[in-house]
Order: sequence, then C-alpha cells, then structure tokens
Amino acid sequence: MKSVIEYPPGPTYLFPYTLVRKFLRDPLKILIDISHTYGDIAHFKFGKQNVYLLNHPDYIEDVLVTNYRHFIKSRGLQVSKRLLGNGLVTSEGEYHDQQRHLIQPTFYPKRIKSYADMMINQALRMCNSWHNGAILDIHKEMTHLTLAIISKTLLGYDIKPEDDEVGDALLTCMKYFNRLLMPFGELIEKIPLLPINKGFQKAKRDLDSIVYRMINEHRKKLDKEHKKEDDDLLLTLLQAQDEEAGIARMTDQQLRDEVMTIFLAGHETTANALTWTYYLLSEHPATETKLQEELQSVFGNNRTNVTVEDVPRLEYTEKILTESMRLYPPAWALGRQVIDDYIVGGYTIPAGSIILMSQYVMHRDPRYFPEPDRFYPDRWTEEFKKQLPRFSYFPFGGGIRGCIGEPFAWLEAILLTAAICSQWRMKLVPSHKVVMKPLITLRPKFGMHMKVTKI
Ligand code: HEM
Repeated sequence: MKSVIEYPPGPTYLFPYTLVRKFLRDPLKILIDISHTYGDIAHFKFGKQNVYLLNHPDYIEDVLVTNYRHFIKSRGLQVSKRLLGNGLVTSEGEYHDQQRHLIQPTFYPKRIKSYADMMINQALRMCNSWHNGAILDIHKEMTHLTLAIISKTLLGYDIKPEDDEVGDALLTCMKYFNRLLMPFGELIEKIPLLPINKGFQKAKRDLDSIVYRMINEHRKKLDKEHKKEDDDLLLTLLQAQDEEAGIARMTDQQLRDEVMTIFLAGHETTANALTWTYYLLSEHPATETKLQEELQSVFGNNRTNVTVEDVPRLEYTEKILTESMRLYPPAWALGRQVIDDYIVGGYTIPAGSIILMSQYVMHRDPRYFPEPDRFYPDRWTEEFKKQLPRFSYFPFGGGIRGCIGEPFAWLEAILLTAAICSQWRMKLVPSHKVVMKPLITLRPKFGMHMKVTKI
C-alpha cells in the first residue's frame, strides 16, 4: 500500500498552473503572502513540482549548514551550467569542496585588502567622468564599475568605461540565463534559430575567447620569474593548483569555468546592492546627511583620499549597506533539491522536492526586525546583532556553499560608497519608476535614473 504524504499547510489551486502564473507576475509578494498565511513551513505545487518554503532561521540553518549533504542545488543552478560549466557556484559534492578549498586562499582578508587601491581608483575614474547636473542610470554605472573592478583584480584586465563588449556579452548571457530559469525555460533551447539562442551562443563565444586569452597570458607569466606579491586572483589560482599536493592540475576547461563563475557572480550582485543603497539614500535625506557627517569626520576636506585604513571608521556607512541588503537582498532566494527524504518541522520532505529559503521574506519578518519595511540603519547596534538568530539575516547565504566573495563584496561596497558619496549626491529623478525585478538577482526593472550633483 502506498503511504500518504502529509504536507504542511499551503496554498492550493484548482488549476495547477495558477500559482506559476502568479509567481511569474510577482514572486516576492507571493512568497511574503505564503509566509504570513502559513507560517514557518509551507508547501505548494509549482506545476508538478513539490516546493517547501522554509520561514524559520533554525530550519534554514539546518539545510544550509548542519545537514547540507542532504541537498544539491535546485534546477535553476543546474540550468545555468550551460554558461558557468562546472565552476564553484554550480559544482556539487567532493569536487565542489576540493575546488572551494583550492580557491579559498585567494579570498583571504590580506589578499583582498591588496585590491583596495584598484577598487578606489576605478571608483574615482568613474566619478571623474560624471558631469554636474547629469542624469545617469546609476544601475548601469554601478554594473560597469563592479565589472571593471572584478576584471582588474581577477585578470589584471582593464575594461575601459567606453568599451561595452564584455559588459554587453555578460548582459546577454544573464538575460538568457534568466529566461531559462522560468518554468518551461528549457524549451527555448529546442529552437536553436531563435534570436535569443543565437545571441547567447555568440556572447558565450566572445566571453570564452577573452577568458582563455587571459589564462594563456597568465600561464606565460607564471613560466617567467614574477613577484608573488603582484599576483592577481587568476595567477594565484594557477599556482595554488601546483602547490597543492595530491590535487591534479586544473585543465583549461576547469579554469575557464571557475574564472567565468567569479566574473559573473562577482559583479552583478554588488552592483545591485550599491544601486539600491543609493536609491534608499535619495529617499531618506536624514540618513544621507548622517552619512555625509561621517565622511566629513573621517576624510575632512580631503575627500578624494579614501584608503583601506579608513574602513573600520566607516561604521555608519557599513550600517547603511547592511540595512540596504536587508530590504533589497541582491540574492533574494536560495533553492535546494532534496536528495533523500528529509525531516523538518515534523514533516517528511520527499526526495526530489525543492526547498526554498528567501532572504527577502526572512529579512522582512517582524519577529526579528521591528517595523520591517522601514529603512533604519541605526537598528544595527552590536546588541541587536548579538540577539539575532544566525539565519534571520543571510544576504550571503551560509555554510560550505555560502558566498566565497563576501569579504571582497563588503570591502568593495564600503570603499565605493565612501569614494562616490564623498564627491557626489545622487537624487532619484521624480518621474522615474522604481520597480523590483527579481530575476537571478534583485534588480531595478527600469534601471535607476538619478541626477548627480557635485558636493
Ligand atoms: C553584495 C554582493 C554579493 C552577494 C549578495 C552575494 C550572495 C551570494 C549568495 C547568497 C551565495 C550563495 C548561493 C547559494 O547558497 O545557493 C553566493 C555564492 C557565491 N558567490 Fe556571492 N555574493 C556577492 C558577491 C560576490 C563576489 C564579489 C564574488 C566574487 C568575487 C562572489 C562569488 C560567489 C561564488 C563563487 C559563490 C559560490 C560559492 C560556493 O558555492 O562555494 N560573490 N553569493
């Protein structure tokens, strides 16, 4: 006799695809509604797929940290292998852990600190190209800037602000990737002549040729004598594989996958975090004034002189960014697929089910964040942080699959905010529509048009 599965409460619909349609229209609202109505664990069908939404920090910790071996990444990430190959974001199991171990040293704080000057210089270069009173799409500016930074630090490769080739190719890939993530997204691939497929193939070829060129140049550099302190991430990666006893040399394909992964994962998220931050500052003048006071007290009148040593004193800047990523988490949901039956909250989740954990939902939970919709950086006192359950705030995920670039992203976001806001005030154009677009990352649907004024 077949055993009957007991599902946690959740929305049910007469027509199985009703929820899919609603989800496509506004996934953030749907997830918030489900969490408010059904509590810490909810079940629903997404087409034929069983999905469980976890809305409790302890359940999330169990999945991401304590019992992570019971899960693989969900379909979205499997689909993205077409672009990322088998890099850190998409690989699984022992291979993933081995690659993570190999790559981790390139993200140690000392190494990351050495990139600070490059980050600041790129920000100043951008600031110098702006004109007083200009109206700019700040999302585009931030994407260019973070792309230039990851390219320079990772590959020693200069992307000029006017050179859109890499940026355009990445954007084409990301759009394609987003389309594949939709239910039935794979059907798109079955029609190779569709412009979106041709566009993706060309963009992928362009990016591949750049990445392989860089790898070859770095291999040549390694053969010659070079100073270790000048290493960028790719050089370190090439050496790490040689120094690591017992680990076979990475093939060019493996290196390409890792480089492409960090290239993509390492700039778009940060660009979104910065864009939402500048939008929030524009909407909250009192917070902006307080930020200016901190910048004045740290830099005085020499506001172009931002250095890595200033970071510990930029406490309010850090609080602003923390609060901004609470309200607008660049990674707004994580998905995992259950490998073998898994028990949570008294329910058995059958193998093959999808578990969803949403930063957007948890970060707005009034149990942990009073007045959850209010932008209030001052809430982030030491006492407040100490009493928060670990996974009530997790913009960078956690556990063995947590963001390897987190320290890089914090340093970059603080330095860039200090460097940019020291020189420019950004004000939202009143007629501009600000709408959240939750694709792979949480982006502003129509960009972020702002007027920039010299301070
Ligand atoms: C504000 C900026 C960023 C945010 C919010 C963010 C968020 C995240 C999250 C939530 C994950 C975990 C995904 C999961 O568990 O399924 C992740 C993984 C990852 N991130 Fe980030 N990230 C940011 C910046 C960066 C940067 C700057 C880099 C590289 C320089 C980077 C590289 C990666 C990589 C390689 C992974 C996969 C790690 C693994 O599976 O071992 N990220 N990121």
